[in-house]
Amino acid sequence: MNAVFYYSNTDQSKTVAEYIANALGWDIFNIEDGDGEGLEYEKAFVVFPVHCQNIPARVKSFLSNLLARYLIPVATYGRMHHGNVLYEIENDYGFTVIGGAFVPAKHTYIEEEGVSSADLWALEPLIEKAREGKASSVSFLREKKDLFADLAPEWRSRVGVSLRRTKDCKGCLLCEAVCPCWKGRERTPSKECIRCLKCVSVCKEKALKVRLTLPLKLYLRKKKLSEVKVFV
Ligand SMILES: Cc1cc2nc3c(=O)[nH]c(=O)nc-3n(C[C@H](O)[C@H](O)[C@H](O)COP(=O)(O)O)c2cc1C
Ligand code: SF4
Ligand code: SF4
Repeated sequence: MNAVFYYSNTDQSKTVAEYIANALGWDIFNIEDGDGEGLEYEKAFVVFPVHCQNIPARVKSFLSNLLARYLIPVATYGRMHHGNVLYEIENDYGFTVIGGAFVPAKHTYIEEEGVSSADLWALEPLIEKAREGKASSVSFLREKKDLFADLAPEWRSRVGVSLRRTKDCKGCLLCEAVCPCWKGRERTPSKECIRCLKCVSVCKEKALKVRLTLPLKLYLRKKKLSEVKVFV
């Protein structure tokens, strides 16, 4: 049995995962739903966003429990810095990794076009390898991270991005349905918030206000990367 798993807050990784699953005709599962977990897989794609040059905590815990003979990790990132996440998966989880990719996508904190199927043709060699049944393992280069990349990444997101509920809120509870950090109708989310902005993307009233600090705004003006990197 083969499957494509994804973790996605603003649909970038979901779009990539759907593209791969459609091309292969494999089942697709959202990691957060818990569907498909606990079963044994021959090959599994895991598609997820890079957060502060790291693997998100939810994806780390999923990888720790996943039973798959061959793994193909695909990391989407906001064209700033994809960190070293593929190398970390190859070395920290004990899977036989047979391919992988870094896919530039819309940055959560920048107003721009999202990744589309038309951008994803570069993944074809990876899809072809998964389809053909080749199982030769790959090795990823150890990439250089920024100096502070591993220093409390989730705390740095909270400091760099503020989030609050405004008076435009109509109390529809959609934000609370997607994230426990909003339980209790508070004006700001709880301290566990990772600033993924999933709640913002589901709020139809645009009642959740996001503000970036100046250093983060300046950082996000840096030159962007656009190449899809594929390893087969
Ligand atoms: C908390 C957080 C940290 C992020 N850190 C990075 C980063 O270090 N480098 C980068 O290029 N993009 C970064 N991004 C952008 C996401 O990796 C990118 O937008 C991703 O494609 C979002 O995928 P999703 O919509 O599937 O969640 C970050 C986004 C968030 C929310
Ligand atoms: S989704 Fe928006 S309108 Fe609905 S409860 Fe949350 S903040 Fe209010
Ligand atoms: S409250 Fe924070 S963690 Fe929850 S969806 Fe919103 S940004 Fe993400």
